[in-house]
Order: sequence, then structure tokens, then C-alpha cells
Amino acid sequence: MFIGDNNVIEFGTDCHATSGSFYIEDSHNSIVTGDHTNYAGKIHIACTESTNIRVGDNCLFSSEIVIRSGDSHSVVDRNGDRINHAKDVTIQSHVWIGFRVLITKGALISENTIVGTGAIVTNSFEEGNVVLAGVPAKIVKRDVDWTNERI
Ligand SMILES: CC(C)(COP(=O)(O)OP(=O)(O)OC[C@H]1O[C@@H](n2cnc3c(N)ncnc32)[C@H](O)[C@@H]1OP(=O)(O)O)[C@@H](O)C(=O)NCCC(=O)NCCS
Repeated sequence: MFIGDNNVIEFGTDCHATSGSFYIEDSHNSIVTGDHTNYAGKIHIACTESTNIRVGDNCLFSSEIVIRSGDSHSVVDRNGDRINHAKDVTIQSHVWIGFRVLITKGALISENTIVGTGAIVTNSFEEGNVVLAGVPAKIVKRDVDWTNERI
């Protein structure tokens, strides 16, 4: 679904997406996927409030994954001022996202990261080559990488 003006959904070369939905609401949003990224199962990516969701090259997404740059409704403080503005989401290159992972506004997942099944990623992780797991996701392993092949 696509509502609003000047929105962009872009894929690089040799990407695969099998099922799911890309949802954009409001204007000046973008969902950009790099080269050779594989959305292997059901994916829902929702981008709102003039934000950007960036996914790098050579990423692998399992199934039942949700990525959102906003919350869709407002959380306000006692003065009625909004405190939950949407924020960009960045998934850098060569990241493997496991089954049933949720990624919320402002998340950054750095290169060569593995995100364990069931994780909810709510924060920025500047360090790459890690395993993130749990709710909310934390680093549970460092100095690792992953490969598609079962070696
Ligand atoms: C992320 C993953 C690949 C890591 O595997 P691993 O490197 O063998 O990790 P380990 O099993 O050694 O776990 C390391 C620690 O993280 C914890 N952990 C691992 N996965 C977790 C998860 N999904 N949620 C919460 N904690 C997790 C372990 O309990 C362990 O904690 P401990 O050190 O306190 O004992 C694996 O746990 C996983 O989630 N696999 C599912 C991948 C998937 O969804 N595949 C679908 C096809 S694409």
C-alpha cells in the first residue's frame, strides 16, 4: 500500500522478494534495498512520517519479519507534545535477519550482523560482526560472521 507524495521504493540488482508487503504512508519516505538482498519469506516493511528505511547489499531475511520506521499513532507527554516521532532505520550490508524478528524506529544494524529468531531490535548497534538476540535485542556474541552455505 502506498499513500502520499514523492515516496520511493527502490531495489538494487538481483534482489528477491517472495511474499509480504511494503507500506508507505505520508510523503517523502523511501525504502531502499541494495544489491543481491533476499527477502526469502513473508516481510512487512512500513515507512511513515518522511523517513528512510535502508537495507544494504547481500542481506538475507527469513520469514515473518516486520520493519517499521514509525509507530503510526502518537505518544504524548503531559503537555500534549509528541515524544515518539518516526526515525530512519538502517540495516547495513551482509546482515542475516532470523525468523520472526521485529525492527522498530531508529534501529541500526551494522555489517555482518546476525539477528536471532524472535528478537525485537529497538536500538542502534554501531558494532558489526555480532549476534543480536532477545527482547529488546542485545549483543550476545561478538567477532562472528555468517555464510549462506552450510559448510
Ligand atoms: C542467532 C543464531 C543463528 C545464533 O546461533 P549461535 O551462534 O549458535 O548462538 P548460541 O546458540 O551459541 O547462543 C548464544 C547466546 O545467545 C542466546 N540466544 C541465541 N539465540 C537467541 C534467541 N533467538 N533469542 C534469545 N537468546 C538467544 C543463547 O541462549 C546463548 O546465551 P548464553 O550465552 O547465555 O547461553 C541462532 O540462535 C538463531 O536464532 N537461529 C535461528 C535462525 C533463523 O531464524 N533461521 C531461519 C532460516 S533463515
